Amino acid sequence: MIATRFETARTIIRHAVEADAPALLRYRAENREHFAPWEPLHDERYETLDHCVQSIVAVRDVVQLDRGYPFLVFDADESEVLATFNLANVVRGAFQACHLGYGIAARWQGQGIMREALVAGLDWAFDGLSLHRVMANYMPRNERSARLLQGLGFEREGYAKRYLQIAGTWKDHVLTALIKPSMW
Ligand SMILES: CC(C)(COP(=O)(O)OP(=O)(O)OC[C@H]1O[C@@H](n2cnc3c(N)ncnc32)[C@H](O)[C@@H]1OP(=O)(O)O)[C@@H](O)C(=O)NCCC(=O)NCCS
Repeated sequence: MIATRFETARTIIRHAVEADAPALLRYRAENREHFAPWEPLHDERYETLDHCVQSIVAVRDVVQLDRGYPFLVFDADESEVLATFNLANVVRGAFQACHLGYGIAARWQGQGIMREALVAGLDWAFDGLSLHRVMANYMPRNERSARLLQGLGFEREGYAKRYLQIAGTWKDHVLTALIKPSMW
């Protein structure tokens, strides 16, 4: 497993370990309504400690296989999960690409923390993982997500109808990507 830990001005970013399960559970429970419109439906065990532990164990496997890199974004003393992001669906060969997913707790929204964490994550995706393209897709009505991606330099590449099953129904998505810029 690649040991990865980033520090930004306001956050510590790393893969989850089993001891993070209670903090992850709090994050899930406190933000249930906040995330529900933007995520797939969760199984009924999603808000249990057991499920959080299972998700954390699964992180180790995807990372070891170079399939994905899910991160937790903590406050400076690593007691609270502020946000998460995932460099998922890594494809190597001629593509060298992944999909980016992300979300921040309702109470930390609107302060530039998600952006701060993603700048560090994208830097590592291009330099550490040697990826060439990071793709991120959002529902047309998700204006916050659109603004965040635009600010990071993602460019619109298309529009996919009924692309992902979110909150129980297939939703159209705007497709965007960031190609390894010279600054990374
Ligand atoms: C999408 C989401 C991650 C955006 O989070 P965010 O906190 O708005 O994103 P940023 O970190 O870029 O913060 C930008 C805001 O912080 C403000 N800000 C304050 N200080 C800042 C700083 N130092 N740098 C940048 N922005 C700063 C900006 O003015 C901006 O405010 P505005 O949105 O009112 O214009 C968040 O809304 C979320 O988790 N939504 C639910 C899940 C979701 O939709 N996930 C994505 C699915 S595609």
